[in-house]
Amino acid sequence: MDLATIKRRFGIVGESLLIQQAVERLVQVAPTDLSVLITGESGTGKDVFARALHGLSKRSGRRLVSLNCGAIPENLLESELFGHERGAFTGAVERRKGYFEAADGGTIFLDEIGEMPIGTQVKLLRVLESGEFSRVGSSDTLYTDVRVLAATNRTLEQDVADGLFRQDLYFRLNAVQIHLPPLRERPEDIGPLVEMFGRSVAAEHGFEYRGISGEALQFLKNLPWQGNVRELRNMIVTITTLERGEMITPATIRPYVPRALKAPGTDIYRGGNFQHSTSGGTGASLVHLNGKTSDQVERELIYKTVLEIQTELRELKQALINREDERRRRRYELPPIEEADAIEDDASSAEAEFDLERSEEMMIRRALDHVSGNRRKAAEVLGISERTLYRRLVKFGLI
Ligand SMILES: Nc1ncnc2c1ncn2[C@@H]1O[C@H](COP(=O)(O)OP(=O)(O)O)[C@@H](O)[C@H]1O
Ligand SMILES: [Mg+2]
Repeated sequence: MDLATIKRRFGIVGESLLIQQAVERLVQVAPTDLSVLITGESGTGKDVFARALHGLSKRSGRRLVSLNCGAIPENLLESELFGHERGAFTGAVERRKGYFEAADGGTIFLDEIGEMPIGTQVKLLRVLESGEFSRVGSSDTLYTDVRVLAATNRTLEQDVADGLFRQDLYFRLNAVQIHLPPLRERPEDIGPLVEMFGRSVAAEHGFEYRGISGEALQFLKNLPWQGNVRELRNMIVTITTLERGEMITPATIRPYVPRALKAPGTDIYRGGNFQHSTSGGTGASLVHLNGKTSDQVERELIYKTVLEIQTELRELKQALINREDERRRRRYELPPIEEADAIEDDASSAEAEFDLERSEEMMIRRALDHVSGNRRKAAEVLGISERTLYRRLVKFGLI
């Protein structure tokens, strides 16, 4: 199979040298049993590559079991992975198989591996080296034949240096590394990606996709794309759906670009009055409301809410970062004589914290509402790990 066929088969789009190299590496290592560590920021295609690695391996007829290490409460992760005996811990009412048993003969994909607690890492190393493991609550040795793929958006080297990640496990997992570069480092992939997302949405809704203007494409290439391909996909899906496949121009894009995405020096805003997606988007959809089924309208509303939530969350994160920076500055730089001021400031920052918490809770509720309570989807919408979401739900008393 040539590279083009492989890319088509697994839905990998991209003409940049960086993506071509990643695909070449994928083709080289897929048929082996080597562990592969897929690295890259959120939304760069780690899941896509994991599926392709499995699909191109001799294990493709067997299961690919995926597990997000960041999504499962720490005390349950080990029994999820290795299973447990009846009575191993409170609540373990019957014996249960773990993912390593379920994936026997196939592949296991450990996403967000950097979130794995250090105690579990020891057990993972054992199964990687010898295929041996034990269920929680049992000392019997069991065997499994599983190929391990792992992914992370963290710098694991740093975690190793900080004592958060075992060096021996890191070396074992990193036998082969496939790095997926951020979208902003490969702007030439944006055109083909827009085309693919636009066409598939148009086909799904039964209208024609009329492309994107050169100016609009150039604008997209200048955005920072912190959410990478996922963010681009969300935007193009929304625009194509709401604009019914009409040619994408800077004017059509404007209402859909979250303020936080705005890159300095991009023409689209120069001298113009930037509109937040809330107001701009609503106007756009009212124009088209006639002739749509309520299902379509509902879907569009969801898309829009998702975009809004993403924007708000990004802004919230930025506010938090700024506040943290400010605190640090205060802690290290202020001469003691200004302490009184600092105390006063702290009172107002406690208020800000309260506000942030309230908006955070509200956004989480909204996200959950829109995905009918599905936590995995809500976490994805919010751009946080499932474990973080879980902690927040507990904190806000939502579960
Ligand atoms: N190279 C690519 N070609 C086509 N679609 C991609 C590519 N990379 C990512 N995507 C799409 O972007 C979204 C996020 O990709 P995903 O693999 O889930 O990212 P990650 O696991 O790194 O967060 C998915 O919808 C995926 O299909
Ligand atoms: Mg992923």
